[in-house]
Amino acid sequence: MGRIRVCDEGDIAPGGHRIVDIGGGIEVAVFNVDGTYYAIEDICTHDDAPLADGALDGRCIECPRHGARFDLATGEALSLPAYRPVETFPVIVDDGAIWVED
Ligand code: FES
Repeated sequence: MGRIRVCDEGDIAPGGHRIVDIGGGIEVAVFNVDGTYYAIEDICTHDDAPLADGALDGRCIECPRHGARFDLATGEALSLPAYRPVETFPVIVDDGAIWVED
């Protein structure tokens, strides 16, 4: 378990996101939803589409490929065709930067 630096605090505008490679072939998308940060693995559990460019609605992200929706806080799949949750990661704001824990 380690801490990976994503970017400076303030680099992700509300409604925006950043992608960080945490190693092992895993890319994590970090979102700013009205000042709260959420991190999920950037891969849909239905058919492996990247999720980060999907439409953000509150703290839900909609997969751009087939429209499954996921809760960014819990990873829960909220609608078909996905039914397995996406992995989530803790986000820490510290020392002027945003970090995720793997
Ligand atoms: S790949 Fe995401 S819903 Fe199908």
